[in-house]
Amino acid sequence: MAYSTLREGKATEQLPRIDRDPELRQRLLPLCRLRSGEVWQDPVRGHRVGVLDATSIGDVSSLVGGARVNLAINDPPYNVAVGGVNTRNLSRVDLPSYLDFSRKWVAAVLDTLASDAHFYVWMGADYRDNFQPLPDFMIMMREFTILKARNFITLRNQRGFGTQKNWMWVRQELLHYVKGNPSFRVVYTDIPKILRGYYKKVDGQETENLERSKSKTIRPGNVWVDIQQVFYRMEENVPGCYAQKPLKAIRRIIESSSSSGDVVLDLFAHSGTTLVAAEQLGRVAYTADVDPVFAEVTIRRLEHYRKTGKTGWQWRNPFPEIG
Ligand SMILES: C[S@@+](CC[C@H](N)C(=O)[O-])C[C@H]1O[C@@H](n2cnc3c(N)ncnc32)[C@H](O)[C@@H]1O
Repeated sequence: MAYSTLREGKATEQLPRIDRDPELRQRLLPLCRLRSGEVWQDPVRGHRVGVLDATSIGDVSSLVGGARVNLAINDPPYNVAVGGVNTRNLSRVDLPSYLDFSRKWVAAVLDTLASDAHFYVWMGADYRDNFQPLPDFMIMMREFTILKARNFITLRNQRGFGTQKNWMWVRQELLHYVKGNPSFRVVYTDIPKILRGYYKKVDGQETENLERSKSKTIRPGNVWVDIQQVFYRMEENVPGCYAQKPLKAIRRIIESSSSSGDVVLDLFAHSGTTLVAAEQLGRVAYTADVDPVFAEVTIRRLEHYRKTGKTGWQWRNPFPEIG
């Protein structure tokens, strides 16, 4: 089967979801340079990509070694069916099993953190199943007393899902915790500040809020409304990946919560967004996925970015060998 299809009347090379097509997986596996347990070391900037299990302390320490992680960005499977379909890597499990899985990967990440570090985790809530697992996960996190809750961010998707009989679901949740007292840098959106009229006396002078502003644009706050979800027309799109986070969101986390040269850990690499963002921002990414195909996609995305300056393949196939 050739992975060229007709979509909306235009020829595309859109790859179907890698996780759902066993025949496709069989064709992709021989193209993966890493086998389970192996780690690729980037000869240029020292990034690492592994085919590892995030719940295994041994696997995670083989990725991180003696280094200390300043920022962990975690985007695990949410225990909801993506696009209404269970997948091999994101299959639905019962809640106790999901929490057991979560406890294990959180412990493995904590084992690598520096004394002052940021810890972010994307999490979902399934309204068809009493909003699991978000509230259960938040309560479970209280067991890890070394982490302090810092914030609860909502990313507002531009496109939502749902029927005309319900509020459209447009939110994605991002929990922010800290260990110790890591530094934090204020970042700004591109949204102009328009609200005026908050007066305050500064050095005896009446000043208006815009005069006092550090920036002409607003801060993102903890509801991010300025980030577009990834879809196949965007340069950063990685065909075959079904749960890709926008580069802009990951860049925002990295810019606010780490410094140049810091180590950023992401054990659920998928399309390699954290790796590309770390490359762009001068951080070192240690990243992994349990699936060799997604680890290969991750490495290829970095190589593709270095070669072409492009952050993804838009609708083109990242595996031209099977085009
Ligand atoms: C929600 S996606 C991450 C998306 C990623 N942030 C991006 O922008 O592309 C979750 C990924 O976790 C991987 N995964 C599932 N269980 C895992 C485990 N135990 N260890 C490591 N990776 C796992 C899946 O294969 C999937 O690629």
